Amino acid sequence: MRSSTRVVLTAFALVSVATGCKPLDDGMVLIFGRSMRDSRSFDPYENPLMPPEGSVAFASGNSSALASDVNLGQPEGGNEPYFTQANMFPIGTGDAAVASMENPFSLDDERALARGQVMYERTCVVCHGPQGIGTGANIFEKYPALAAYNLAGPQVAGYSDQYIYGMIRVGRGLMPAYGHQIRPIDRWAVVTYVRKLQADAGQGGEE
Ligand code: HEC
Repeated sequence: MRSSTRVVLTAFALVSVATGCKPLDDGMVLIFGRSMRDSRSFDPYENPLMPPEGSVAFASGNSSALASDVNLGQPEGGNEPYFTQANMFPIGTGDAAVASMENPFSLDDERALARGQVMYERTCVVCHGPQGIGTGANIFEKYPALAAYNLAGPQVAGYSDQYIYGMIRVGRGLMPAYGHQIRPIDRWAVVTYVRKLQADAGQGGEE
């Protein structure tokens, strides 16, 4: 009796080791058409999807100050002044910290607008919507306090290019910072694209 129990247990163990989870797994494949058995393995931080052709790597914001410099991982390049959210006050006009910078693009720069659109649609569109006016209907009539959220509205149209640039880099309140994701030159492209959205919405803007 004891030895027959042992035989049964040994046989069960052998069958389990030999087949593993396969019968269960096969059942899953039958039901769902795929199984975790078939998943590829990835290294930590490996991006399993190939980036679209012509795309800029995620770490593009991390450019060195000069072409000849070793990149030490600083997010900013060039002679951009150091500033944080604390320097971006008062709201909408507090651009003293960034005033020394200049937007190299104008509204008739097609290439800058195209680049700005790519970056805008990659980063800003989820919250500000394709036209800069958010995604909800009449949201600004319902909630006038959200005027700053309306990138194509009169409030943001009145901001300086520098202030919008600073906002992209350091953010404020519910508006996240994107300095780590959008490199300096692309921030100007986004600023210029925001100006275009304002022009499309009938706001004069600064240009
Ligand atoms: C996660 C959502 C979200 C994303 C993504 C986002 N924003 Fe905002 N943004 C907001 C909100 C919410 C406000 C309103 C903040 C407030 O009123 O305090 C805002 C405000 C702003 C303002 C006005 C700031 C001020 O001081 O009045 C600007 C300019 C702006 N966003 C530009 C951008 C740009 C450009 C991008 C893309 C790089 C972007 N935002 C991405 C949510 C977002």
